[in-house]
Amino acid sequence: MSQYLNYAIELAKMVDGQTGLNPPVGSVVVNNGRIVGLGAHLKKGDKHAEVQALDMAQNAAKGGTIYISLEPCTHYGSTPPCVNKIIEHGLKKVVYAVKDTTLPSNGDRILEDAGIEVEYRPNNDAELLYRDFFDAKNKAIPQITVKVSCSLDGKQATDLGESQWITNKTVKQDVFKLRHQHDAVLTGRGTLEADNPQYTTRIENGKHPIRVVLSKTGQIDMSLDIFQDPSTPIWIYTESKQLVSNNEQITVTTLHDCSIKNILTDLYDRGVGRLLVEAGPTLTSMFLQTEFLNELIIYYAPKLIGGSGRNQFFHTEQVVNLDNVPQFEVVNSNMLEQNIKLVLRKK
Ligand SMILES: NC(=O)c1ccc[n+]([C@@H]2O[C@H](COP(=O)([O-])OP(=O)(O)OC[C@H]3O[C@@H](n4cnc5c(N)ncnc54)[C@H](OP(=O)(O)O)[C@@H]3O)[C@@H](O)[C@H]2O)c1
Repeated sequence: MSQYLNYAIELAKMVDGQTGLNPPVGSVVVNNGRIVGLGAHLKKGDKHAEVQALDMAQNAAKGGTIYISLEPCTHYGSTPPCVNKIIEHGLKKVVYAVKDTTLPSNGDRILEDAGIEVEYRPNNDAELLYRDFFDAKNKAIPQITVKVSCSLDGKQATDLGESQWITNKTVKQDVFKLRHQHDAVLTGRGTLEADNPQYTTRIENGKHPIRVVLSKTGQIDMSLDIFQDPSTPIWIYTESKQLVSNNEQITVTTLHDCSIKNILTDLYDRGVGRLLVEAGPTLTSMFLQTEFLNELIIYYAPKLIGGSGRNQFFHTEQVVNLDNVPQFEVVNSNMLEQNIKLVLRKK
């Protein structure tokens, strides 16, 4: 029954954002109409979801069916292949929702050779869960969400730099959830100086993201609140050789060229699988012009700020022909009290 596969997919969704460079995966083992084991991959290097579920089921797995959100692996990574574990436990059937296009796909054959029935049961929800993961893994850069809070006229701050609070408290809570779902949050020196933010996650059992700060010049005021908050590491990217830190929580990486591509590649190499960009118009505009963006989330407050074009979240040096402007599709929209949340993907 697909309720068990749906349950495995729900488990995967719950650990999305905490598995770093590994995919979020959920698994449920069923025998004689009873759930006898369930599991999720909790973090990179930990047991895979199938192994968690089979360890829970033990002998009760024999002759049963295992439902998995993603095709089971066949390779030796930091853990042994999951197909071996499935064979050892004597399961009768394997049902999975998505094929892993980033790994050798010989799992079905190995399982079938061992006498196990295999069913690939495609599921839209699960496809969506893994689409950006596969894309990021192929490019070896993190999955990227850009978040913007602005007025109806697209301003992230007034011309004088005032930005607290454009959107409402419900938006703030939603942004905490976004931080929880990402490994790292990225911002620029301009935002640190204007807002003195901490980028923590103030929700029950929230996970604080690693904080990534960009400053080509390296002229950062180290007395700002973010540098006094010990909750997670801070990684600074700069081109300045003068910027150094004696604080072990703060890592300074000096790149010859602080291009977005170079920074993203380095972040992925360090284990950042999902990155949330929460920056001012300079960096927001840069990210919106790259090919790396997966999702753009805009929170609109029903206000008009006006002034000049300053602090408008998207600006370009050149005027672009309408045929060539970045285009998006709206994948979701909802009201957060009197504010509107739009979730968009680049076309
Ligand atoms: N409403 C919102 O959602 C929201 C969110 C964030 C900020 N804001 C507002 O935005 C305003 C600040 O805007 P902003 O555009 O100055 O902020 P920003 O985009 O966060 O930061 C800009 C700074 O990032 C650094 N930078 C840019 N590209 C870089 C690269 N490739 N490598 C390394 N460093 C790089 C530069 O620092 P250096 O000059 O040191 O090189 C640059 O000055 C404030 O008024 C703030 O309140 C609003």
